[in-house]
Amino acid sequence: MNISIFGLGYVGCVSLGCLAKNGHKVIGVDINEYKVNLINNGLPTIIEKEIGNIINEEHSKSKISATTCAKEAVHSSEISIICVGTPSSPHGHLNLDYIHKTAEQIGEAIADKEDFHVIVVRSTVMPGTNQKIGQIIENYSGKKRGEHFSVVSNPEFLREGSAVKDYYNPSVTVIGGDHEVALSKVSSLYENLKAPIIQTDIEVAEIIKYVNNSYHALKISFANEVGNICKSLNIDSHKVMDIFCKDTLLNISPAYFKPGFAYGGSCLPKDLKGIVTLAHDNYLTTPVLNAVHESNELQKQIAFELIQNTGKKNIALMGLSFKEDTDDLRYSPSVDIAEKLIGKGFNLTIYDKNVHISKLVGANKIFIEKLLPHLSDLITNDPDEALDNADVVLLNHKNFDPSNYMDKLKSKDALIDLVRIPELESMSNYAGLCW
Ligand SMILES: NC(=O)c1ccc[n+]([C@@H]2O[C@H](COP(=O)([O-])OP(=O)(O)OC[C@H]3O[C@@H](n4cnc5c(N)ncnc54)[C@H](O)[C@@H]3O)[C@@H](O)[C@H]2O)c1
Repeated sequence: MNISIFGLGYVGCVSLGCLAKNGHKVIGVDINEYKVNLINNGLPTIIEKEIGNIINEEHSKSKISATTCAKEAVHSSEISIICVGTPSSPHGHLNLDYIHKTAEQIGEAIADKEDFHVIVVRSTVMPGTNQKIGQIIENYSGKKRGEHFSVVSNPEFLREGSAVKDYYNPSVTVIGGDHEVALSKVSSLYENLKAPIIQTDIEVAEIIKYVNNSYHALKISFANEVGNICKSLNIDSHKVMDIFCKDTLLNISPAYFKPGFAYGGSCLPKDLKGIVTLAHDNYLTTPVLNAVHESNELQKQIAFELIQNTGKKNIALMGLSFKEDTDDLRYSPSVDIAEKLIGKGFNLTIYDKNVHISKLVGANKIFIEKLLPHLSDLITNDPDEALDNADVVLLNHKNFDPSNYMDKLKSKDALIDLVRIPELESMSNYAGLCW
């Protein structure tokens, strides 16, 4: 395929070399003449393992060239890949000036181009940017997105220092768009890689890079705080984290990674509090660990506000224990919600298939008697009774099977779902907590 690449920095130079090595004819574009001259002399624009040889070899086979002229590049290609910089503004916003300028140039260039053109955004951009790029190209070309051109999001995941290796070995290739032909054309660029290709919504593709990098930053800071705590106790932090990483069931795994309601139970809140207090006692500051509790409390507040905003007073809470298939009420976030609702004058009816007042014993009983002393007046073992009393239903357990109650659920003012029950999502009165 004939491909043009806008921006010959780290991402652009690697893409230029690797796509040419994969058999494509690639023309690079940059506003920096020096970088253009480097490429046209068979030299890379960056210092990076292997890239020097690749650029040199592909240049000698006339598979790569570069120009400062956007029009020349667009007219000699069917795909334009945008790899220009998206630096932070002083206030932390993304500076999209380079992206917008590139879109203008591509728009002007395709104005008199006959063939369908695909624009791929490889730069890291906020959700909505591809939409904006499409509008700019429409304005500058007089052409219609989806008819004469398409904009596709294809975030780059490489790391400097191992960029070529990362280019050829991504975990996944993400391609977001709404045009079948464009999606399959862009997918074909990566079909020789081992990684799965995921075609998805354009906004999903746009945000994924931010989610990935925020998580990577979180991992580093988490490990560093663990290191600081371990050092203060004369414990080898690397030994600790080596073992931590061996747990691929709960630690390094998809476990706990579905957005949803707050955590609770007898272990997570207690043990987090324990380690934060230990750190504090050792004169350590652990902002990441400290913030976890605050974030958890916020999730309860968000759920509460969803209920409050309905303006209704009669609430059914379906599921009280801290997770389904247990009767453990200790530090259950829905006990907190229940307590708050009662305190604010809501009428609450609770159904939980595993919670039977007469069977509660020990620490579980003591805990709930302290927080919800009138639980026996609020709880029912009949889901119909809970639903009949309510204008708003708060769904807290996934094991609640809605199929027998669809008519009742439909008639409610609001269904607030903390666990994502798929059968309910299409209902007009449905609100997911964080989806
Ligand atoms: N560097 C990385 O490791 C990495 C990894 C993944 C994603 N990204 C993202 O990829 C994008 C590019 O990053 P980078 O590190 O390669 O940037 P860079 O600053 O190294 O290169 C950007 C290039 O774009 C050129 N440019 C600016 N405006 C242009 C225009 N109108 N036409 C043509 N060229 C133009 C600049 O002259 C520069 O050479 C950013 O959004 C970045 O966040 C970077």
